[in-house]
Amino acid sequence: MTLHPKSSTLDIPITAVIPSHIAIIMDGNGRWAQNRYLPRVEGHRRGAEVVRKILIACKERGVKHLTLFAFSSENWRRPPSEVMLLMKLFKVMLEREVSRMHAAGIRFRVIGDLSRFDDSMVKMIHESEKLTQNNTEITLTIAANYGGRWDILQAMRKLALDRPECLTEVQEEDLRPYLCMADAPEPDLFIRTGGEQRVSNFLLWQLAYTEYYFTDTLWPAFDGDELDKAIASYQSRERRFGRTSDQLLAFAKDAREAVGL
Ligand code: IPE
Ligand code: IPE
Ligand code: MG
Repeated sequence: MTLHPKSSTLDIPITAVIPSHIAIIMDGNGRWAQNRYLPRVEGHRRGAEVVRKILIACKERGVKHLTLFAFSSENWRRPPSEVMLLMKLFKVMLEREVSRMHAAGIRFRVIGDLSRFDDSMVKMIHESEKLTQNNTEITLTIAANYGGRWDILQAMRKLALDRPECLTEVQEEDLRPYLCMADAPEPDLFIRTGGEQRVSNFLLWQLAYTEYYFTDTLWPAFDGDELDKAIASYQSRERRFGRTSDQLLAFAKDAREAVGL
């Protein structure tokens, strides 16, 4: 067993500290607007503002990776007018926010099947990723036209092309580098706002040992205090990764002794 600052299914992250990777399903925009007799799109607009605030809040708290589910592969089933508005909001974010993020040292990434986006959008995404690639304050990853099952399948297809000979003996370590979030530690904390308690085809592989936190708060009403509540809940958990509590206590004692505490 090794004490590792990064989360992974193999090592033991320390829950007493700030989670290094938070993944969020931002749900409840539509209901937030409908509760106020506003069109659903107003909820999405407000939700986009909350993204900016929560990104800064995470950065201030020392979170190194924030991954947000913005549009699922199933969200194309929504009315065309709502899909169009969501695409427009995403475009505006790329146009306006990326330079601000760059100035604040934020690395920006998009994961998902980009083949359904128009060429100008794909170009903007690639340029934004390139511009911000060396920033180290925090990585913001937006999951757009993303599905967890798609992610595993696309990884499998790439592996099959690169190393067809290993397919019958394929191990987790072989597949892992081809998954969308290969360069990030697995999420420590998963938050879903909006009251639903499901994963809705988000990061299926990567959430295997993540701590889950559900809140009824609708995404447009989510703020720094709500984030702190989720982090406090995370910090109260014991992540055992299949081990026993006694093993973890012994391990923590060894780790303390190793650093002379
Ligand atoms: C989440 O809010 C945003 C997206 C899925 C793009 P919803 O639009 O799902 O809001 P509710 O769940 O209908 O309230
Ligand atoms: C999940 O929200 C996807 C995003 C937040 C982007 P949905 O509101 O689409 O999820 P379901 O359909 O209720 O599970
Ligand atoms: Mg929803």
